[in-house]
Amino acid sequence: MKLRELRTPAALVELDVVARNCRRMGERVARLGAKLRPHVKTHKTVEAARLSVQGHFGGVTVSTLAEARALVDAGFRELVWAVPVALDKLSDVAALAARVESFGVLVDHPRTAAELAGAAKSLGVSLEVWLKVDCGYHRAGVDPKARESVELARALANSPGLRLRGVLTHAGHAYDARSLDELRAIARSERELTVAFAERLRGAGVPIADVSIGSTPTLSVADDLTGVTEVRPGNYVFFDAFQAALGSCTLADAAFSVLASVLGAHPARRELVLDAGALALSKDTGARHVDPRCGYGRVTELDGTLRPELELVSLSQEHGKVRVTGDVDWSRLAPGAKLRVIANHSCLAAAQFERYAVVRGDEVVDEWRPARGW
Ligand SMILES: Cc1ncc(COP(=O)(O)O)c(C=O)c1O
Repeated sequence: MKLRELRTPAALVELDVVARNCRRMGERVARLGAKLRPHVKTHKTVEAARLSVQGHFGGVTVSTLAEARALVDAGFRELVWAVPVALDKLSDVAALAARVESFGVLVDHPRTAAELAGAAKSLGVSLEVWLKVDCGYHRAGVDPKARESVELARALANSPGLRLRGVLTHAGHAYDARSLDELRAIARSERELTVAFAERLRGAGVPIADVSIGSTPTLSVADDLTGVTEVRPGNYVFFDAFQAALGSCTLADAAFSVLASVLGAHPARRELVLDAGALALSKDTGARHVDPRCGYGRVTELDGTLRPELELVSLSQEHGKVRVTGDVDWSRLAPGAKLRVIANHSCLAAAQFERYAVVRGDEVVDEWRPARGW
């Protein structure tokens, strides 16, 4: 089947670009001397997960139990669920842990630690835990400078039924960086704070085997991973317009896009309407702090050629409104014409779709089904 024959809106994944992104990040991490435990949250598929672990130890990171189940069913045996564990899901965690070599969960609160230890005891299992550290994002994680954080680590290490594997952080604030220099500084502090905290814990007699850090922006610029044992980038598998604006990649590295049909063309007010709205692209506003004209994604021809004069300026549920800023051939933009949109945020856009059309050039070569839901 040809790409232009797909019903729109359709999620497109460029196979060769995914493979190239996986190879480049894999080589980069290996050169810096850490293990790669790719996050699958962006694509949620077994197929892309397999490409991303090729040549690596096979460990993966998940954001939901649905992703975890799909990967365990497909034979993955080393997983970390990189969201603080929800107390209503402890029996699911124990059931998954029983099927694999390791299924790590994150803890950043004494109540969670106590509940987890209680569940391990009552279910008669041993559960692997990571202490989640806040390296500046201020979303989840303990303060690496606080005394209570050492106490929590000690409690985890001393709880029968729990196995403290290490410390884990994610520099999500890297997405707010306004320049490559700022991004490099965040990458440095992500490593330094977390490695220093691991040393402090070791000094306090708490054994820490692993130090896990990472995001796509920080790992795209990091030049030193001393003291870090593993990294967990995820978005790099698809990349997107946000990452290109930050400088983690170029738009040519964006492997995910949405195929859209023109529904309406209004030359008098210089506007087009596409059938890719918020439910196809998400309402992520992109890296406006570095690229005020990023709109809701970048419009391209079917072959990927950028159309900078077509600006996707607003989204409603099923409509995407495009402002036409340059000279165009309106006869080629009439209803029925097709365009592609490189999403601002591929993780959120991809998660809207039940299936991805995997393409090579203009040929559809496969279909992948993401493990959606929770
Ligand atoms: C805890 C954690 N680790 C790793 C990642 C991967 O980061 P990125 O999507 O920037 O590659 C994320 C992404 O949200 C995350 O939340």
